Amino acid sequence: MADSQTDTRQATRDILPMFTQRWSPRAFTDQTVTEDQILTLLEAARWAPSASNLQPWRFIYGLKGEPEFDSLLSLLIPFNEDWAKRSAALIFVVSVKSFDGVRPVATHSFDAGAAWMSLALQANSMGLVAHGMGGLEFEKAPLILGLNENLKLEAGIAIGYQGDPATLSESLQSRESPSTRQPLSDMAFKGKIGG
Ligand SMILES: Cc1cc2nc3c(=O)[nH]c(=O)nc-3n(C[C@H](O)[C@H](O)[C@H](O)COP(=O)(O)O)c2cc1C
Repeated sequence: MADSQTDTRQATRDILPMFTQRWSPRAFTDQTVTEDQILTLLEAARWAPSASNLQPWRFIYGLKGEPEFDSLLSLLIPFNEDWAKRSAALIFVVSVKSFDGVRPVATHSFDAGAAWMSLALQANSMGLVAHGMGGLEFEKAPLILGLNENLKLEAGIAIGYQGDPATLSESLQSRESPSTRQPLSDMAFKGKIGG
């Protein structure tokens, strides 16, 4: 693992190691996490920046072995459920579209994304995996998560300790390595796109 990580996660600038050290494995050990650990992750998320400091994010979590976990697991598409059922906890990130029913929070998804990244980096610093999931059964979310029209389900997150890839299906085993990134020059432009 260390070799492929060295090969694929080489930053081309001098950045903090936490950015390249974090990645998204799908194999988990049987080790549980505590509610205290989950609340620590959410505390990191709480400190994310947001437009006008509105903090338009909400988190719904469940710990493996407790009824909430099974209920949250049922929100995952089968592809994700197949591996995330071995995670130690699930967290769903929801954003708030408006606080007064009149003015929309234009950046609600962007802000919730910042909170997710804070959570993911905090998890990595605690030796935990935080694997984001957009593959959800969104139509079930209002009932299971108690959402109303003002709340948008953004993503799920599987939390746990990284495990042996052999516990995964063959097709997932072949994908169980840190990915690389497109070159900075493909995404950074001066002044305008293509500039
Ligand atoms: C919002 C979001 C949604 C994602 N959805 C899924 C998903 O449904 N299933 C999955 O296995 N991985 C999912 N991922 C993981 C990405 O595939 C992964 O982050 C990406 O390939 C980059 O790899 P890295 O996180 O290891 O750096 C998602 C990640 C994010 C941030």
